[in-house]
Amino acid sequence: MNILLASAEVAPYAKTGGLADITGALPVEWKKAGENPIVVMPKYGSIDVEKYNLKKTDYLLVVPMGFWEEYAGLWHGKLPGSDVDVYFIEHDIYFNRDGIYGDPHEYGDNDRRFIFFSRAVFSVCEALNFAPDIIQAHDFHAAFSLAFLKSFYRNHPLFSKTAGVYTIHNLAYQGWFNPQRAMEFSGFGMKEFYPGSWFEHKGNVNAMKVGIMFADKVTTVSPTYSQEIRWNYYGEGIDDILNLRGADLIGILNGVYYDDWSPETDKHLFHNYNLDNFHTKNHNKADFLSSLGIEADDRPDLPLVGMVTRLTEQKGIDLIVNKLENHLFNEQYRFVMLGTGDYNYVNFFNYIKWKYPKLALINIGYNNELAHRIIGCSDFIFMPSRFEPCGLTQMYALSYGTIPIVRMTGGLADTVKEYSTDSMEGTGFTFWQYNAEYFDHSIDRALSIYYNKLHWDNIRKNAMKQRFPSENSAKEYIQVFEWALEKIGVLK
Ligand code: ADP
Ligand code: GLC
Repeated sequence: MNILLASAEVAPYAKTGGLADITGALPVEWKKAGENPIVVMPKYGSIDVEKYNLKKTDYLLVVPMGFWEEYAGLWHGKLPGSDVDVYFIEHDIYFNRDGIYGDPHEYGDNDRRFIFFSRAVFSVCEALNFAPDIIQAHDFHAAFSLAFLKSFYRNHPLFSKTAGVYTIHNLAYQGWFNPQRAMEFSGFGMKEFYPGSWFEHKGNVNAMKVGIMFADKVTTVSPTYSQEIRWNYYGEGIDDILNLRGADLIGILNGVYYDDWSPETDKHLFHNYNLDNFHTKNHNKADFLSSLGIEADDRPDLPLVGMVTRLTEQKGIDLIVNKLENHLFNEQYRFVMLGTGDYNYVNFFNYIKWKYPKLALINIGYNNELAHRIIGCSDFIFMPSRFEPCGLTQMYALSYGTIPIVRMTGGLADTVKEYSTDSMEGTGFTFWQYNAEYFDHSIDRALSIYYNKLHWDNIRKNAMKQRFPSENSAKEYIQVFEWALEKIGVLK
């Protein structure tokens, strides 16, 4: 199957979160399974072309925008450790910036940048003479490509047998665009913008809705989230649209690319380990703490709770704000955090760092090595998310025997099971209500297990035995791609 994956983020080139991890992993698995994937993404200024051995091709892309045309260069590379072709769209005015979306405020021209990207996908295929069976568009940034597929390109020789699949990673970011601009840049014109049209939602162009409506199949990144978003509480204002497409909406759990996230091989750890010698994990904790300046008389015996996260409301940071200081004041655990995001949360963590310098090891920023160390060397990881489409961090943590304390929502509910001291089954500590007191109770349960050697060893072994390989997710996508091709009558 020829699969074109279009995404604004692909690891290792450009990443703000889990979207990149999964778009970097799926094509590698497809290729191993004998499919023929290519990846298309923008060439951001921050991408290190030398490190990844990217080369400029001779192609000049001609990209229709509105009533005019724009031009772009095309770069090429291979996903590291694989034979998967990745194509980078070079348009300096749009993409030669350090940020992907603009931080902390979104770039004012994100409508134009991502409509251009969505259209350039077709110019790449024309240049390469690549006829995709499937275009898989990830999140709102690539959503317009599915509208183009079903309109301007539906009789095009390369695309007349192409099905479109839209994959939602996070419904909270929808791409609300000004109609005059978006309808002009996309070439559809204001005649296609009217109440209830596939472009319109509450008076704006909503790119997320465009993806959902024009796709042959819609997927999201966990079975539980695929159900939750059909309800008002999780639907981010477009649950009605998701229910319209309910019959075509499928949840596929993200998978872990264990080549990158495994305690046996992780080069960022101090000592590698596996199930047979998992006590080595304790040496990792000790060396990690001393690398962060914690001495023998600073209570390195305390449980170590880690967090690696975007600092946004989604991640349940409000619950942490509510409880953390009290826990640290009582020396219940040591806290190590890595994250960037909203200023109000950054200010809170800076205050905590100042007040509890030995107990709160706060790192504001983005750092892949430190992310691996926190996830691998901590005893517990907090993910009290308000909503969580899938969440990869808790799956990574499990594989290192780092015990997740999570709210039961989305992919967290699909991957973490409450530990029972009776059955000795389970892999973590959970709570349902978005409420700091319930969060507190789950932490109490977790800490009591930490001090009980029998259960503490047992839960960590349970965790390390969990497996969510990206190979499985990749297979499920192929099944959905086949359904999409059946839907358009190409596969019988
Ligand atoms: P989300 O995509 O919502 O941010 P996930 O748990 O699915 O949440 O994925 C987050 C990914 O981003 C993980 O690979 C995590 O290690 C990484 N990550 C998040 N914040 C940082 C950071 N500040 N530095 C390095 N890696 C980070
Ligand atoms: C989004 C979600 C996260 C998910 C990731 C990859 O960023 O917030 O839950 O794991 O996408 O699908």
